[in-house]
Amino acid sequence: MDDVSPISDVLMDSDRRHLIHPLHHPKDHANAKLFTRGVGAMLYASDGREYIDGLSALWNVNIGHGRKELAAAAAAQMEKLAYASAYAGFSNEPAIRLAERIVGLAYSNMAAAYFTTSGAESNESAFKFARYYWKRMGKPDKVKIISRRYGYHGVTMAAMSATSLPGYQKMFGPLVPEFFQVAPPYPYRWPGNGDAGVGAADAVEEAINAHGADTIAAIICEPVMGAGGVIVPPPTYFPRLREICDRHNVLLIADEVITGFGRTGKWFALGHWGIEPDLMSFAKGVTSGYLPLGGVLVSKRIHQAIEDAPMDEKFMHAATYSGHPVCCAVGLANIDIIERDGLVERAQVQGDRFRKGLETLASLPVVGEVRGIGMLAAIELVEDKGSKKPAAGLGGKVVAEAGKRGLIMRQRGASDGPPVSGDSLCLAPPLMTPEATLDRIVQIVGESIEAATG
Ligand SMILES: Cc1ncc(COP(=O)(O)O)c(C=O)c1O
Repeated sequence: MDDVSPISDVLMDSDRRHLIHPLHHPKDHANAKLFTRGVGAMLYASDGREYIDGLSALWNVNIGHGRKELAAAAAAQMEKLAYASAYAGFSNEPAIRLAERIVGLAYSNMAAAYFTTSGAESNESAFKFARYYWKRMGKPDKVKIISRRYGYHGVTMAAMSATSLPGYQKMFGPLVPEFFQVAPPYPYRWPGNGDAGVGAADAVEEAINAHGADTIAAIICEPVMGAGGVIVPPPTYFPRLREICDRHNVLLIADEVITGFGRTGKWFALGHWGIEPDLMSFAKGVTSGYLPLGGVLVSKRIHQAIEDAPMDEKFMHAATYSGHPVCCAVGLANIDIIERDGLVERAQVQGDRFRKGLETLASLPVVGEVRGIGMLAAIELVEDKGSKKPAAGLGGKVVAEAGKRGLIMRQRGASDGPPVSGDSLCLAPPLMTPEATLDRIVQIVGESIEAATG
């Protein structure tokens, strides 16, 4: 147990006066937890309590908390070279080594990495790579970006315009033009008896035809939708989508900000369906959140377009912190741990076992569906299993009950459409979470659902 210190009251008073939080509303922050320490899958707070980190903080602390090797890697690099520009004409060793390492771990068609400092900036960059590529190919009108309803891609203006979850855009419009959404491959909520994978891929093709392929630069997809409620596509979706993108000359951007670096039981998630994207955004798990880092991998043909460009068409995307040596050194140490501890395989084996545990909760009257892949899972709550009527508001109550019992998790709120959905409880524990802790998560979620439904 950690010290319960009166300083925490002083700090929280200052917090309420001075700190604006992401997703900020004072009511949501009334009983905030002040975290003081993290070890493995556990977080410790100033109230003296310990909590299971059921979401790896924000789906990012893949290797678990408190790994001293990452602190040592950061300190060593900071002492040697804390920062230097990586603009053309300059480089540094950690950035070079990390780029080569990630290219080697990812899809076989990938050639090179551009580094950012967040997932949103990675997606923002991916959109610019896509437009750049088509301008280089002599098709300057291919600018539109397709995304899917329930997709989440970050908070910057373009990433927000590709995002399609209730609430994220309401107070920030107007959106960036040339972004539009299509139906997600959401089997539990797919209308009719058809295959959601085939239907949702065909919806992309219909949209391409309606807008004209000559206007469309790319489609961005999370291989498994995370914040949208851990929506796992049917195996038919991505192979068909890849084929549609190829036929219409539309680039496929994989947003692997959550799914990358082992989360789904593979290094990168499109490997589950045997296809390769043209661009791949990453962040979060690349450093397990120990320092902010993200990036975009580009395929050989896109890389070629950059390499062959005349001087007046050079790639001008000049982020100060691209290739930050300390962040990249931490990324390398993080990948060392994922490899050495076999965390990708562990995510698959323990993830399957974890999901089987969660499936025992399917008999509860409000559990409509248990779904997931690797160490990513969701439980969708409904009022009625037959009609699948959403249980709006129940998710928040379950999350609050879980907090009382020492488990931190998140929920995606219900939506009245389209498509309609119920609250979904989202779980993504660190890939190293011990079996006993995973079992305890299942137990707490079950107890919390029962407590919340009276
Ligand atoms: C799939 C996906 N893309 C992008 C982002 C944005 O990442 P960041 O918050 O680092 O900008 C997130 C964040 O949760 C995400 O889940």
